[in-house]
Amino acid sequence: MNLAPLDRESVVPLYYQIQQRFLEQIRNGVFKPGESLPSEQEIAEQLGVSRMTGRQALKSLCDLGVTYSLRGKGTFVSGIKLEKDFRQVTSFTEEMQARGLRPKSTVLDFQVAEADQEIASAIHLTPRENVISLRRIRFANLSPMGIEWSRIPQRLCPDLLETFDPRNSLYETLSQRYGIRMMIADEIVEAGLAGPEESRLLGIERKSPVFLFTRISYLQNGEAVEFVKSIYRSDRYRIVNRLTRINRELLKAR
Ligand code: GLP
Repeated sequence: MNLAPLDRESVVPLYYQIQQRFLEQIRNGVFKPGESLPSEQEIAEQLGVSRMTGRQALKSLCDLGVTYSLRGKGTFVSGIKLEKDFRQVTSFTEEMQARGLRPKSTVLDFQVAEADQEIASAIHLTPRENVISLRRIRFANLSPMGIEWSRIPQRLCPDLLETFDPRNSLYETLSQRYGIRMMIADEIVEAGLAGPEESRLLGIERKSPVFLFTRISYLQNGEAVEFVKSIYRSDRYRIVNRLTRINRELLKAR
């Protein structure tokens, strides 16, 4: 760590001076996206400040969204937020690969379950119909981005549980093995706060702001084949859109 000395005579609080020095180094590329900053203890020792001041400086960087902290691991430079594009149906794997990032998944749940009322009516299932339920934490270069919970009618891919390794791309397998191609999706995005479980899984503070996505994906013929609830970190994503004046009939939800 090579920060300019602090001005102890100044009225500018020490934590703020430290914050400013780190910001400059992040801007200058000394610390790159994904890299870790020194710990509060290292800051305290090397700059001769209290640990509390070090902690305050790190927290203020996180509050700015410039860094994020992973519990027990440290503080990392956030880098640019990924843009979630509403104009195209893509898989998480495709989104990451298009940006030169490495996708990874941790599987929380992969089983056959009976669809509840919400899912059944969203994707038009018969009463008590089974779905394949897949819940995963999705990572980009080992940084947790969100939690996705996908439900697909089991009748469309009866042996998915046996044939699919859920750490891989679901859309690729559905397309290659079962001919299920997600061509259209309705997606709703809402704002939310990370609950205790989500903050633990995503390594973010409790009640951090998150994006809540509900997606219904359709085949070319309009058949609904996937119901997804996702939670994405708002410090890692921003939503971009293009607005046009073309015929609204073309954009109508099915
Ligand atoms: C996107 C979608 C999800 C979908 C997932 C599949 O993230 N929002 O609805 O389930 O992609 O991703 P993959 O093919 O990488 O498993």
